[in-house]
Amino acid sequence: TKANIGVIGMAVMGSNLARNLASREGNTVAIYNRSPEKTRTVVQEFPDAGFIASESIEDFVDSLSKPRTAIIMVKAGKGTDAVIEQLTEHFEPGDIIVDGGNALFTDTIRREKAVRETGINFVGAGISGGEEGALKGPSIMPGGSAEAWETLGPILKSIAAVAEGEPCVTHVGTDGAGHFVKMIHNGIEYADMQLIAEAYDLIRRGTGKTPAEIADIFAEWNTGELESYLIEITAEVLRQVDAKTGKPLVDVILDQAGAKGTGAWTVQTALDLGIPVSGIAEAVFARSLSSKPKQREAASDLPGPTGTWSVDDADAFVEDVRQALYASKIIAYSQGFDEIVAGAEEYGWDIKKGEIAKIWRGGCIIRAQFLNRITEAYEQDPGLVALVTAPYFTDAVSHAQDSWRRVVVAAAQAGIPAPAFSSSLSYYDGLRADRLPAALVQGQRDFFGAHTYKRTDTDGTFHTLWSGDRTEVEATDTH
Ligand code: 6PG
Repeated sequence: TKANIGVIGMAVMGSNLARNLASREGNTVAIYNRSPEKTRTVVQEFPDAGFIASESIEDFVDSLSKPRTAIIMVKAGKGTDAVIEQLTEHFEPGDIIVDGGNALFTDTIRREKAVRETGINFVGAGISGGEEGALKGPSIMPGGSAEAWETLGPILKSIAAVAEGEPCVTHVGTDGAGHFVKMIHNGIEYADMQLIAEAYDLIRRGTGKTPAEIADIFAEWNTGELESYLIEITAEVLRQVDAKTGKPLVDVILDQAGAKGTGAWTVQTALDLGIPVSGIAEAVFARSLSSKPKQREAASDLPGPTGTWSVDDADAFVEDVRQALYASKIIAYSQGFDEIVAGAEEYGWDIKKGEIAKIWRGGCIIRAQFLNRITEAYEQDPGLVALVTAPYFTDAVSHAQDSWRRVVVAAAQAGIPAPAFSSSLSYYDGLRADRLPAALVQGQRDFFGAHTYKRTDTDGTFHTLWSGDRTEVEATDTH
């Protein structure tokens, strides 16, 4: 017998995905890894999976039924290009190569274009949910051609997480659309994590509660509108006691956050597209700041409030923080979806925003009840220009905003960094402002560079003769 699907790369994500595939009715799974020992171990460890294992790429290709479909699960980068090259040598037109790694979407666009010339389909698919998701049901964001989706769709639906009866996978769009959307998912993940971390820090330093007590608060929050995987695991991390010292684990973990790059890509891409994803950017920068021990050491004696402070009413403060977290989270998602809209426009993808929110309801790291509200918002108004202006979110934010402002003020006065909370609030106030001081910036630009400005009362482009008699002239040439 031949396999209807193959997986290349037997590290934990690859082997888990292969096991997931093998566990579903109708699938026979071929596996291959560059070093054959890994493949042999996987075969030995999971004899019931019925894997067809190969030790050469030729045998692997031969073990697949047509159209051949192979999912690459190797570390994103040069390794991916090498495997694609091997597969394109042996595959035939109509076959399908899937890259399931965290590839940069512009690499996926480039690879898709090159592979398409051979008649082979190339699909960049974002896969979220970590090791457990890969094994039990991830959220999958495939790009690529409609033709590839016809073969691949049923297979991916069979292994994806299920949320409210629907598989968490959809054909996102052509070429790099899937990896683009996965990138945004990760950017939102960074923002959500940073917001939760700020909430924890404020509660701890404002009320003196222990990590275990704060774990209970998060567990409680997880029964309401904040219900999400990230809130749930936060409670578990906070409850964990270090075996070695008997202290809360969170107190012995080095406070320098790592990053593998997808958050930074989200921000870099947003800068190119001109989309203010300030919440995501602050989350990325907060990790960078944490990982600068020399600067932190040098600055540790700078003046400012230190240590703990104490709020008058702990319960009221905790509720304020909960509201601030919810409002800031709405902003982070709103910004992320703005970037999806801008990316779709720039790269010509027909991305259904409501569908994206749906496939994020299960399997992925940012899975949450809340995503249903986003789907509803886009269903009610497909042309929605900013998620936060949808009625449900406007209501939520107007309900939360007094708390949100109190928390940001308290953080500033107590000297506690809350970059994601405060930048989200500034973004919100910027968005709703009648007039912005951008008018002054335009005046400054015109002063030093004759960059011109527009007027509120007349069409056209103008310049003031700043170094002359300061009269205004109509400009023909814009800078
Ligand atoms: C997921 C995760 C996954 C991974 C990222 C983020 O959706 O399953 O986002 O892709 O955890 O690589 O990792 P960093 O925090 O190391 O950037």
